[in-house]
Amino acid sequence: MTAAQHTPPIVESGRPQEAGTACHRWIWHGEEDTQRFAQRLAAQPGLRDAYVTLHGDLGAGKTTLVRHWLRALGVQGRIKSPTYAVVEPHEAPGLAIWHFDFYRFDDPREWEDAGFRDIFASPGLKLAEWPEKAAALTPVADIALHIEAIDEIQRQVSLSAGTPVGRAVIQALQA
Ligand SMILES: Nc1ncnc2c1ncn2[C@@H]1O[C@H](COP(=O)(O)OP(=O)(O)OP(=O)(O)O)[C@@H](O)[C@H]1O
Ligand SMILES: [Mg+2]
Repeated sequence: MTAAQHTPPIVESGRPQEAGTACHRWIWHGEEDTQRFAQRLAAQPGLRDAYVTLHGDLGAGKTTLVRHWLRALGVQGRIKSPTYAVVEPHEAPGLAIWHFDFYRFDDPREWEDAGFRDIFASPGLKLAEWPEKAAALTPVADIALHIEAIDEIQRQVSLSAGTPVGRAVIQALQA
């Protein structure tokens, strides 16, 4: 152990969670890093039809990441948080995106009634905050993205893959 302080690198390799599962960590030193990361996510063709879950405490930065991600994909206009509506649909050039926030989701009947089953069966990118609240109904996420606040502006972010699609994307992000 050394007493020397050091700034963590933006990209760190994490330990694989389990055999064959890519899991990697990044540090965002401020919202500009969050935006840059969102731009890199938006540039991944492998995420076009993916399901990405966003984990982290209240105020961790899930919606902030999604807003930068949607902008980078070319979504115009006001980007509302889906906290009350549970889902907000978005259109980017040639791409449908659904942004879920399951924080207030507590009635499984809503899954059918609100057409969520149809959304998950459709092509397009699905992003979900608080996915734990609908875990019994949702498919396996291609990528689970965990955000943890280090302080007011820094975040530790880890990505783990649940499918081969997710693994390929995480590998591409490390390149
Ligand atoms: N590096 C960073 N990345 C993301 N957000 C940051 C960062 N630094 C500061 N913030 C701030 O942290 C807050 C994150 O709020 P946000 O609504 O995105 O959280 P959330 O995870 O979606 O919370 P909730 O669970 O309530 O939906 C915003 O005020 C944002 O400006
Ligand atoms: Mg949010």
